[in-house]
Amino acid sequence: MEGLLDCRLRAIIARAGRYDWCVTEFIRVTDTLLPKRCFTRVAPELGHGSRTPDGTPVRVQLLGSDPVCLSDNAARLVDLAPAGIDLNFGCPAPLVNRHGGGAVLLDEPALLNRIVAQVSRAIGGRVPFTAKMRLGVHDNSRALEAAQALTEGGAEMLVVHARTKDEAYRPPAHWEWVARIAEAVHAPVVANGEIWTVDDYLRCRAASGQQDVMLGRGAVADPFLVERIRDRLVERTPRSIAADWPRVLPLLFDYWESVCRDLAPRHASGRIKQWLNLLRRNYPQAETLFQQLRSLRDVAEIDLALHMFGRELMRDDEIAMMGRNAIFPKASREFCLEISV
Ligand SMILES: Cc1cc2nc3c(=O)[nH]c(=O)nc-3n(C[C@H](O)[C@H](O)[C@H](O)COP(=O)(O)O)c2cc1C
Repeated sequence: MEGLLDCRLRAIIARAGRYDWCVTEFIRVTDTLLPKRCFTRVAPELGHGSRTPDGTPVRVQLLGSDPVCLSDNAARLVDLAPAGIDLNFGCPAPLVNRHGGGAVLLDEPALLNRIVAQVSRAIGGRVPFTAKMRLGVHDNSRALEAAQALTEGGAEMLVVHARTKDEAYRPPAHWEWVARIAEAVHAPVVANGEIWTVDDYLRCRAASGQQDVMLGRGAVADPFLVERIRDRLVERTPRSIAADWPRVLPLLFDYWESVCRDLAPRHASGRIKQWLNLLRRNYPQAETLFQQLRSLRDVAEIDLALHMFGRELMRDDEIAMMGRNAIFPKASREFCLEISV
């Protein structure tokens, strides 16, 4: 998810749960053949067999509207052996839409069909090829037409975010429309949108008639959601969210360490706050931490606050369970030392 789930958070969320595959944030294709580094910057996993460190396959997403340019770039991307290529026809961002990319293309089924056909030819069956769509631009009157244009053009699987562009990310998601689309096309369909809990998953499955779902913000808000869903599927009682905070905290520290290592300080602080902002939907402790961090800008201050928070909140037995290094990562200790000098 562009601006939210990058390769670092992807690695952490994928490690926490067991996903069949995941997809990168979009890479924008306009009118040039992108150098390989543009693909590997967004998907460094391409250098590691297109897998996250825990081995989850990573598909790479392209966004654009020019069939020739998209297919040239897809051909170049295939040379990097991605675990799959996905085309984005769901992005509602005005900047993207103004340039004719993302969800606005859903009003142009003929163009959708040409794009997908040309990209499919360029890929030549060498890697899985999927497309992500919404139900339409302003309403869902052309949803079936758009879905058919995509699958008849050559998309091997459709991920349907069950909202229109105008609905942006507002609930509800219209899962019953995923069922209608699945009936209208000859390709597997994956339901997406508004799955935050195991119950949402079960309701989505019932309404959409699809076994497979794609988790979006729900997976970031609860890194163990996929585990809870899998537990329910084998009729094991899912662990309660309340019990899982001690498992979330080390993930948060790992993420903090990685953003501090890789990003400019202001981006690092923005990223950790963004994740906490979603985590606080489920974890009261994340709300407390979010409130403590929200006005802090300085990386060292945030680091100290995280360190103190971890120390205060964890009981001795929880610290012992996870190991001290998991809770107080190396980068944190170093920053704290600098402050106390
Ligand atoms: C901040 C943000 C960035 C997103 N970036 C992408 C993206 O790059 N590619 C994409 O296919 N979907 C993107 N999405 C959409 C999500 O993948 C997902 O389809 C959508 O949020 C609906 O699922 P959810 O309600 O479970 O979050 C983004 C969503 C958000 C909130």
